[in-house]
Amino acid sequence: MARYLITSAIPYINGIKHLGNLVGSQLPADLIARYMRGRGHEVLFLCATDEHGTPAELAAAKAGKPVEEFCAEMHAVQSEIAKGFRLSFDHFGRSSSTQNRNLTQHFAGKLAENGYITEVSEKQVFSVADNRFLPDRYIEGTCPNCGYDKARGDQCENCTKQLDPTDLIEPRSAISGSTVLEVRETKHLYLRQSALKGELSDWIDSKTDWPILTTSIAKKWLNDGDGLQDRGITRDLHWGVPVKKGTEDWPGMEGKVFYVWFDAPIEYIACAAEWADANGKTDADWERWWRTDKGADDVTYLQFMGKDNVPFHTLSFPATIMGSGEPWKLVDYIKSFNYLNYDGGQFSTSQGRGIFMDQALSILPSDYWRWWLLSHAPESSDAEFTWENFQGSVNKDLADVLGNLVSRVTKFCRAKFGEVVPEGGPTGEALVAELTTRLRAYEGHMQAMEVRKAATELRAIWVAGNEYLQSAAPWTVIKTDEDAAKAMVRLALNLIRLYAVISRPFIPDAAQTMMDALHCDDWTWPEDVATALDTLKPGHAFTVPEVLFTKIADEQREEWQTSFAGIRA
Ligand code: MF3
Ligand code: ZN
Repeated sequence: MARYLITSAIPYINGIKHLGNLVGSQLPADLIARYMRGRGHEVLFLCATDEHGTPAELAAAKAGKPVEEFCAEMHAVQSEIAKGFRLSFDHFGRSSSTQNRNLTQHFAGKLAENGYITEVSEKQVFSVADNRFLPDRYIEGTCPNCGYDKARGDQCENCTKQLDPTDLIEPRSAISGSTVLEVRETKHLYLRQSALKGELSDWIDSKTDWPILTTSIAKKWLNDGDGLQDRGITRDLHWGVPVKKGTEDWPGMEGKVFYVWFDAPIEYIACAAEWADANGKTDADWERWWRTDKGADDVTYLQFMGKDNVPFHTLSFPATIMGSGEPWKLVDYIKSFNYLNYDGGQFSTSQGRGIFMDQALSILPSDYWRWWLLSHAPESSDAEFTWENFQGSVNKDLADVLGNLVSRVTKFCRAKFGEVVPEGGPTGEALVAELTTRLRAYEGHMQAMEVRKAATELRAIWVAGNEYLQSAAPWTVIKTDEDAAKAMVRLALNLIRLYAVISRPFIPDAAQTMMDALHCDDWTWPEDVATALDTLKPGHAFTVPEVLFTKIADEQREEWQTSFAGIRA
């Protein structure tokens, strides 16, 4: 038994996420967390809302609410939707928590103590029309790297380059659109990432098993010297973690807060503390996941995120940890994703384009979405959601293959032998052999976090069951050899249990329905297929379940296609 700490990039608080966000972080993280639990490993799976900084301020202002109130409400909303998608977080925390405030100030203090912080008097953009300093994200302009004209002051969404607002060409205020911007003097703290370049570089070089997407982005920013420019970690804002050196005031930093990208990843740690506090546990209980001097030595730490988040997780956050000089756990594996596009364009939160998580759940149960999204995860390249493709996957994979097998087997058994597992077996040697090979391959892909490959193998495992049934044909055999037919049906009923166990990470609700139909609660992983297919004994009662998956009709698809074509208000 191993121990896995798993975190998903923490979603911004400022709105409901779209399916592209979901498949790029929370959903694959959930898949792997469920899989590792299924294999009997100890898992701590954490996520939270990213609540500080300008996106939150901006959204709260738009909603006409104090930012604290807005964040509390939106956290509850996101938490409900996460439950709807069956995201099995051990804790869904908040970066505005006390735990995160304390830890963020602690890290800043340590970094200062170790000489990794410099105080810089800098010039910052002040908007005369808005009468305030403009934080990075409040400034828009053209990206000097790729020419994208809606680049933000912190990062270009188009080419992922981390930016400083003053890099932008033709900058304007995102609040008022005003181009009357002045540069004024203000003092800020900088994290001396450059001083950690060697250490970071060696560390990334040692990660030879990381996805190319992750290492290529990391190395790009590391080696062109660009990503390792020292980064400002404070802002002239009200909403955020007040700048302190540990528990002490920081002279000259009054009224300032830490930059949201400084405190957000620290929430991965704070969230474990929140989890402990929320569950009556001790500090030792969470520190054994995070402190290598307190038991986290044998923890494997996996992070999941979209590609735009990679620089912060490969460079900035590790720099914070390394620079602290304390034995915090560094990430072991970073799984990153490309983008999911929507029907010929991009999903976009700011433009309300695509399908948002709440909308998705309002039209179909979560398993339908989980299956499509995970089996089309944008791993090696960007992927695209189209309604035709979605309809095809649901109807073929879920309804025709898996759903049909479950219904055929249980109904045939009920009709011929009643709702109990018949006598007989073992049988189906060739099937057992094929399943064994395929199951080991599936496990390999899951272990390697190759999401699409795992889905493909799982589908092949379902297909193998259908093919077995088709060629064994117990409905024909029963006419001449009832005992043989019984053995086949018993095998097939056991197959349903095996499918429930191994499919659960992808489609947890359907897996539960299958298991409930079998009046069974044995989720033991099928280490040995023949043994697993002998679990349900003759005489064991079951109930024919409701239809597992309903097919999507053409009219329905067209209707959704039209209703989701517009822009969400
Ligand atoms: N909120 C960021 C986003 O949605 C992700 C933050 S991840 C963390 O892009 F590391 F900062 F926590
Ligand atoms: Zn760019």
